[in-house]
Amino acid sequence: MGKPKILIARKLPPAVENRLCRDYDVVLNPADRIYSRDELLGALEGKDGLIVTPSEKLDAAMIAALPDTVRIIATFSVGYDHIDIPAARKKGLVVTNTPRVLDDATADIAMLLLLAAARRAHEGEALVRADEWRGWHTQMLLGVHVTGKRLGIYGMGRIGQAMARRARGFDMEVHYHNRRPSAEAEALGARYHDSLESLLKVSDFLSIHCPSTDETRNSIDARRLALMPEGAVLVNTARGDIVDDDALISALRSGHLFAAGLDVFRGEPAIDPRYRELKNVFLLPHLGSATVETRDAMGYTCCDNLDAFFAGRACPNDLTGRVAGE
Ligand code: 8YV
Repeated sequence: MGKPKILIARKLPPAVENRLCRDYDVVLNPADRIYSRDELLGALEGKDGLIVTPSEKLDAAMIAALPDTVRIIATFSVGYDHIDIPAARKKGLVVTNTPRVLDDATADIAMLLLLAAARRAHEGEALVRADEWRGWHTQMLLGVHVTGKRLGIYGMGRIGQAMARRARGFDMEVHYHNRRPSAEAEALGARYHDSLESLLKVSDFLSIHCPSTDETRNSIDARRLALMPEGAVLVNTARGDIVDDDALISALRSGHLFAAGLDVFRGEPAIDPRYRELKNVFLLPHLGSATVETRDAMGYTCCDNLDAFFAGRACPNDLTGRVAGE
């Protein structure tokens, strides 16, 4: 029997592609052009599996249309809102993701956004770059103090916990909302809120770390933003569609929120253009997991899952077996 045939939908780190080329019969995407749905289906003819990223949307119709030869989908991401997991399970497919390896890199970016938004890093940098810095004065670009403030963490999974650990280094008081209390969070001294509303009321800073699901999508809306203290700061490294853009932009314009730090956007990379006009938003192009080490580790996690699957073992990060009750 030959090597399993794998389609790799996007360009992956070189070391990861080398390992895949060694162990599988692969089709790479060196130009890194995003496949249309029909192109992807065509390229999957005769393939046993594929590696995707969030740029490939595998909804129920797409899953149903996949050639029957395809048995495993490994996503190069921890998030899997781009894949209809119940539809995949129904078709008998295994879907795997890349948890754990990107927790620290993503929490680092969340802390960077928090600090940058609070301390007006974007405005300061723009001033220096434009050669418009005419001298120091006591009221220049005053920001919000971070140390000792209350941080609300919305979604206390592994990335939320990594953020809580960082926040402790800034003597922040950590609060969180999750479906249920987490022993790890309690061990970090974080205080549980059984509703998002209760969390928002105490969040001088809010950092979003929940997945995008039917329950969380648009959950940060105008009514909930209004509950946050005057002058609060919002940070999002999870998914853009958790936040209602109209509501956030209006809270930033009115000054109810002092600032926001955003790494993820609804419809990215075509972000809501109004964000670019706001001085009090610090914007990054989805860099959460973008370190050499992390992206290599994400790729190796995809490989480990494929290796287990084709060796007839349980995949370490099988979402189709694990997600219960769907
Ligand atoms: C990546 C992410 O940038 O893992 C996720 O869910 O959003 C990010 O780590 C992206 O998925 C790369 O494929």
